[in-house]
Formats: sequence, structure tokens, C-alpha cells
Amino acid sequence: MVVAMTEPMTYARYLALDDLLACQHPRSDCDDEMLFIVIHQTKELWLKQMIRELHLALEQVRADRLVPAYKAMARVSRIQAVMTLSWDVLATMTPSDYSRFRDVLGPSSGFQSDQFRTVEYLLGLKDPRFLAYQDDRPEARAAMEAALAAPSLWDEAIAAAARAGLPIPAEVLERDVTQPYAPHAAVEEAFLAVYRDPERHWDLYQLAEKLIDLDDAMATWRHKHVLTVERIIGGKRGTGGTAGAAYLHSTLSKRAFPELWSLRTSL
Ligand code: HEM
Repeated sequence: MVVAMTEPMTYARYLALDDLLACQHPRSDCDDEMLFIVIHQTKELWLKQMIRELHLALEQVRADRLVPAYKAMARVSRIQAVMTLSWDVLATMTPSDYSRFRDVLGPSSGFQSDQFRTVEYLLGLKDPRFLAYQDDRPEARAAMEAALAAPSLWDEAIAAAARAGLPIPAEVLERDVTQPYAPHAAVEEAFLAVYRDPERHWDLYQLAEKLIDLDDAMATWRHKHVLTVERIIGGKRGTGGTAGAAYLHSTLSKRAFPELWSLRTSL
């Protein structure tokens, strides 16, 4: 649908630039705080786009339309690569620069990003504890709850494999999708069969590699985050209340598609 316009379209109006560029509110007079805000806001915009693409990919995998799903997933991976590159811009901020305005952040932290958690949930990394940070934002909380309650991309990929004839047990297909996913030997076996005979299972083989791309890019982003954090605050605690770099290190092993990683040992 195209909305009728009363005024001629301009670049600024189309992009709502006056609104967009009025959303940066540094709370100190330190130059680097603007960079800090812009990097975070950019990441939230990219997360918004990733969420749209992941919803598309979920629908398409559910409908066994795997080729269009690859396209959405490829786009997500490219966005993740851009987000990872942005650490290099942030790393131009030194520890001295950051310490000049860190206090204005109070207890706020990227840890509380609802869109980051929604992406994790859509992929399959479900942890309801993060809902608690959205008590003052009902819409954000509702989007997280919806992602938590629905089958993840991994649940849908496993269901697609079952429909394609691979032996997936009922206990996996009928699992309570609101709960964290636990790796299952039969799922690993099924995808092992795909990797052992790619020509026969080309669609699922390609799907599995697109999923690995997403997990890989997520882990790369996490690595660069913790490295940048160590570079800027060393071993200090996080503003969000965790131990800081030590906590972030503990997230590096998170995998949304665990059997796709473990099966590689047996190939
Ligand atoms: C000076 C720069 C930064 C520092 C020192 C920093 C530090 C931290 C720390 C210590 C945590 C753990 C939670 C806490 O206790 O706060 C965290 C979490 C997080 N940060 Fe950052 N951060 C920085 C920049 C960014 C940027 C630029 C982004 C996004 C573009 C970001 C996104 C996140 C996310 C999504 C989490 C949650 C990670 C998880 O729980 O897996 N951070 N950050």
C-alpha cells in the first residue's frame, strides 16, 4: 500500500531525519559520549532489521520455502558483520575518554537491550530472566514474550528436517518451545546424515550452513565486544551489575544450533 502525500517528498521527510537526528542526548560535555550513543543507536536499528528478517526466515522455513529463507539469513549475517566492524570505531575511545562520562550511564547497560534478547530468542537462545528488564516497556516486553513462546529458528529447522524424512523423535518435535533448548543425540545424528550426503539433502545442507553462519557471526560479535570491553575498562565490573569481562567471557560458548557444531567432530 502506498500512502497518499499532501507535501512533496524530500529526503529528510522520507527518512524522518529531524526526528532521527533529535534522538541523541549526551548527558555530559565529553566528545566521546556522542560516539557511544550513536554506536548503540545504530546497533538497535540493525537489530530491528535483523528481527524482521528472522521473522521472515522463520515463516519460510515453516512453509518449507528454504531458498527464500537463505536470502533472509544471508542478509542477517551481513548485518552482523557490519555490527562487528563497528567495534573498531568504538575502540578509538580510550579508557580515559570513557571514564570521563561513564558515571552518567548509572546502572544502564547493553545487557538490558530487549531487541538483542529478542534476536537470541528467535534464534533459539531462550532465557526468560531477561524479561525483568522491560517492566517499564510493555511493548518491548510483549515482543520478547512472543519470541520466547514461539518455536525458534532451530525448532523450525529441526521440524523441516523431520518433514523431509529425517528421523527426529516426537519428544523433540513436541517439546515445550518456551523452555531453553537442550541438545539431542537424534538431532545430531539426523544432521550428520545431511553432512555425510550433501547431494541427497542439498536444501537442508545449505540451511544448516546458513544457520552456522548466524551462530558464527554472533560469536564473532561477542568476541569483539569482550575484547573492546577489556581494552576500555579492563577487569572493572559492568554498569549493568555483572562481573564485566568475566561475565562476557562466559557468554562466548553460547550456541543457538548446538548439534550443528558438535556433529563436526564425527564427520
Ligand atoms: C565502552 C564500551 C562498552 C563497555 C565497557 C561495555 C561493557 C559491557 C559489560 C561489562 C556487559 C555485561 C553486563 C554489565 O554488567 O553491564 C555488557 C553487556 C552487553 N553489551 Fe556492552 N559494553 C560497551 C559497549 C557496547 C556496545 C557499543 C554495544 C552494542 C553496540 C554493547 C552491547 C552489549 C550487549 C548486547 C550486552 C549483553 C551481552 C550478553 O549478555 O550476552 N555494548 N557490556
